[in-house]
Amino acid sequence: MSAMVTLDRLSKNFGAERAVRDVSLSVAQGEFVTLLGPSGCGKTTTLRCIAGLEHPDAGEIRIGRDVVAAPEQGIYLAPEHRNIGMVFQSYAVWPHMTVFDNVAYGLRVRRVRGADIKTRTRRALELVGLEHLAGRYATKLSGGQRQRVALARAIVYEPRVILFDEPLSNLDAKLREQMRVELVRLQQEVGITSVYVTHDQTEALVMSDRVVVMDKGVIQQIGDPHDIYARPRNAFVANFIGATNLLEGVLRGRNGDICDVEIALGESHAPVRIKALGGNVVAGDQRMIVSVRPEDLSIHLQAPDGDGGNVFEGEVIDTVYLGNFLECNVRVGTQEIGVQLDHYMQLRPQQKVFVAFEPDRGLCLTE
Ligand SMILES: Nc1ncnc2c1ncn2[C@@H]1O[C@H](COP(=O)(O)OP(=O)(O)OP(=O)(O)O)[C@@H](O)[C@H]1O
Ligand SMILES: [Mg+2]
Repeated sequence: MSAMVTLDRLSKNFGAERAVRDVSLSVAQGEFVTLLGPSGCGKTTTLRCIAGLEHPDAGEIRIGRDVVAAPEQGIYLAPEHRNIGMVFQSYAVWPHMTVFDNVAYGLRVRRVRGADIKTRTRRALELVGLEHLAGRYATKLSGGQRQRVALARAIVYEPRVILFDEPLSNLDAKLREQMRVELVRLQQEVGITSVYVTHDQTEALVMSDRVVVMDKGVIQQIGDPHDIYARPRNAFVANFIGATNLLEGVLRGRNGDICDVEIALGESHAPVRIKALGGNVVAGDQRMIVSVRPEDLSIHLQAPDGDGGNVFEGEVIDTVYLGNFLECNVRVGTQEIGVQLDHYMQLRPQQKVFVAFEPDRGLCLTE
């Protein structure tokens, strides 16, 4: 598949602030790629560089085969010449216009023929499910409907790429979930290349072909949702995508895929040896972090049978009832370990318990 958006060592500074550093990424035609990361990690800046709303300091941006920005070569193409659609969080829908006119506006500005304006606008409204509201004024729409108008406005002139910056974050939780599914369906139907920005990890996992995890202007990992969740490359990614327990330890040995790691639990507790998957670990006696997700841990009232590995003795701190499951925090030495349990389990604070996990559910990571 050919690349539709290519970033080659893109960098953008604001004074001393290095907002985007050496970001390289290739988005295939028709692909849905999400930039995900905490606030201030450089997502919007990257998107604005692609759109042409920011001038990068270094690197190159290509849309299809066209170089649209390359500061070292003095190349910069204005946003209106990049053929890119944009949908942002503050859906600036024009209140004094009808839904139809809001969508048709972009075509009129581009001097499209009258008859074509009608068909294309109708088609775009149909795609977002708003054809029945074409004549209504934009002020008389719900948040979700307004966001759909913004979407129709972005797709109506058939751009090569659509950029989304947190388009669903102003909607309430239920509508947000519904719009996620609709947006992906629409994106697949139109087959348009999409670069989507969010700091919501569920949104990224649900919607994307690939996720780009960023931190402090730098790409930490690129992969499909399963990769990112099941095989995080480092502790930052493991902790940012879903909840996890990070246990610091030292590598004591390795047998094939499985590492033998010594975990310190504080002065009053002897260190325990556990086994976990190698991840990207290379050398012995190396400090590392074992990541175990709450849903991969189990709780036992008696010491579980077996070869005596991967069991911690601890004490319940508290439990949080979440309807479909129970979250239990257990103190093990100086560590606090979160475990996700069946919702019918009953545990009380200070109860003595054993926490266990299978070696292939733990992952050794570097920081
Ligand atoms: N116009 C600007 N002038 C100065 N600094 C800026 C400007 N725009 C962004 N920054 C800084 O660049 C960094 C990256 O900002 P950016 O808006 O790309 O983050 P973000 O990942 O989109 O965050 P959020 O999730 O909060 O929207 C931040 O530290 C921000 O303060
Ligand atoms: Mg932003």
